[in-house]
Amino acid sequence: MSRLVRHDAQGPAIVMVGEKVVAVCQCGLSRNKPFCDGSHRATQGEAPGQIYVYNPANERVEVPDQFPAPTKKFVVE
Ligand code: FES
Repeated sequence: MSRLVRHDAQGPAIVMVGEKVVAVCQCGLSRNKPFCDGSHRATQGEAPGQIYVYNPANERVEVPDQFPAPTKKFVVE
């Protein structure tokens, strides 16, 4: 079983855990999830509306947009 997950964020969510500031990956590319490891830098220069996949070396490949953005946004507070 496998699935594709669409990530639109190009940077981490900054959250406070007690007194500690933690950067949580929102781009989906971190190899240290749930924490940001800086891999989101590979998303710089993405074209709006274009869908990409990234290989293990974080090299970008464009794919046809067969998966339109969801019409409903989910916000975690
Ligand atoms: S937000 Fe994903 S690696 Fe930084």
